[in-house]
Amino acid sequence: MKFLILNGPNLNLLGRREPGIYGDDSYESLCRRLSAFAAAHGSTAECFQSNHEGALIDAIHAADGVYDAIVFNPGAFTHYSYALLDALKAVDVPCIEVHLSNVHQREEFRHKSVTAPACVGQICGLGFYGYEAAMGYFLTRAGQKEAP
Ligand code: DQA
Repeated sequence: MKFLILNGPNLNLLGRREPGIYGDDSYESLCRRLSAFAAAHGSTAECFQSNHEGALIDAIHAADGVYDAIVFNPGAFTHYSYALLDALKAVDVPCIEVHLSNVHQREEFRHKSVTAPACVGQICGLGFYGYEAAMGYFLTRAGQKEAP
């Protein structure tokens, strides 16, 4: 499968940003880990991060017909970006929303996701593993579709 791993604002600062919440590992190490995970499953994972809503919207539009699945951590945009919700709805690429932290244990404003309704599902609180769990879901689902 061809995966697009999308990360939104401030996730480029992983490892430096609130390590007690997001861990000590960098964004680059996340991308290396997901590329290796994809390769181990005969797949590819391309990582894209932006702090800009429009750039993320453009990446979602450009994914249509190019990627089999999107794994998306929209960062704080999760909680208020109707434009990202509409972008996900506009394309024919299934998406799973991922959050490193357990957003439900945190401030009230993080409990609501406006983007999750356009996603197959949402994973939160599992750190980097959450991205692999999302990819694993798509890989299993694809395998089932191909089964006789
Ligand atoms: C986050 C949770 C969001 O509330 C926050 O704004 C982020 C990161 C997470 O991965 O836990 O930037 O998406």
